[in-house]
Amino acid sequence: MPQQVRAVVARAKGEPVSVEVIEVPDPGPGEVLVAVQACGVCHTDLHYREGAINDDFPFLLGHEAAGVVEAVGPDVTEAAPGDFVILNWRAVCGECRSCRRGRPQYCFATHNATQKMTLDGQALSPALGIGAFAEKTLVAAGQATKVDPAARPEAAGLLGCGVMAGIGAAIYTGEVGRGDSVAVFGCGGVGDAAIMGARLAGAAKAIAVDLDAAKLELAERFGATHTVLASEVDPVEAIQALTDGNGADVCIEAVGNPKVLEQAFYARDLAGTVVQVGVPDPEMRIELPMIDFFGRGGRLKPSWYGDCLPSRDFPMLIDLYLQGRLDLDRFVSETIALDDVEAAFHRMERGEVLRSVVVIDQDGAA
Ligand SMILES: NC(=O)c1ccc[n+]([C@@H]2O[C@H](COP(=O)([O-])OP(=O)(O)OC[C@H]3O[C@@H](n4cnc5c(N)ncnc54)[C@H](O)[C@@H]3O)[C@@H](O)[C@H]2O)c1
Ligand SMILES: [Zn+2]
Ligand SMILES: [Zn+2]
Repeated sequence: MPQQVRAVVARAKGEPVSVEVIEVPDPGPGEVLVAVQACGVCHTDLHYREGAINDDFPFLLGHEAAGVVEAVGPDVTEAAPGDFVILNWRAVCGECRSCRRGRPQYCFATHNATQKMTLDGQALSPALGIGAFAEKTLVAAGQATKVDPAARPEAAGLLGCGVMAGIGAAIYTGEVGRGDSVAVFGCGGVGDAAIMGARLAGAAKAIAVDLDAAKLELAERFGATHTVLASEVDPVEAIQALTDGNGADVCIEAVGNPKVLEQAFYARDLAGTVVQVGVPDPEMRIELPMIDFFGRGGRLKPSWYGDCLPSRDFPMLIDLYLQGRLDLDRFVSETIALDDVEAAFHRMERGEVLRSVVVIDQDGAA
């Protein structure tokens, strides 16, 4: 029987989101129904509300989530009712040209639920194919990754997007290694996760760059060894000064700004790596002298979701968290209710939080 649940919906471009009662179908073949326990508020949800991703309104927002599998469709073997899962937006297909060449981390045809969740009979577009600001959500079985249930849902769910994107930008895309110097531009949730990832990989220096001194203080708690206040000093010169005049081995852009990408490009050592994880607007342009592109060598690498593989990385990172080696709790600035998402967007815009996390009491849920 389809279920009626409460959920956060963006009905029209730029309008405040509202909590609505939506209908969620029973899971069909290849699908699972998840009772959501926690879901982080990410910048991408706001991008959807503003119509910056596409015009497929109404959107069912929310995508950084953890919960418990309630029911599975016929023939589903990857998940079972009662499993504690983190949702992901990279349910690898195994069949596209990238998967077939052994590069599932770039899968070009990731799976989502085939049935639609609806509002008054109208199909909803779930953010990143998830839609987890909802008491229950329907996803493809491969989107629900089982992890150790000892993890706190508010912290675990954050691995589903921004924190994984940041950690992966350092350890997979940037291939940070022992002894490397790493500079991270932009110390929001994604940048701080990149700092944590760089430290985990053995970086000797982790240089945090931000315009906001309060963000730099937080970055130090995530493991930054040095900080650069880019509103007061030239970050390229400051990073060179901190690396014997050479620049950092790996520079990670976690803002989504062409000026910052240019700084990251010039702040790296010869043959170093630039990773861009910040998401640009379609109008943004970069222009570089071709001789600098050639003459500095190395690698410029965009990073989608930190080049992660959820089935490999979520259980491993949750184990590190439970051992006290990965401080996911520090990303949780506050816990809120479904009704508070619109206000949380404003706190995010003012830079007051790393992550507001919606917590859903499943005992009280419809
Ligand atoms: N590539 C991916 O798969 C992926 C996944 C999730 C998020 N993202 C993107 O990562 C980016 C960061 O996300 P977030 O949640 O950390 O955002 P955020 O807004 O919390 O953090 C951005 C930080 O950048 C700082 N900043 C702004 N302008 C700056 C400048 N000129 N120089 C230095 N610092 C500056 C801000 O003060 C803030 O601390 C966003 O663009 C987001 O869309 C990408
Ligand atoms: Zn694929
Ligand atoms: Zn996100």
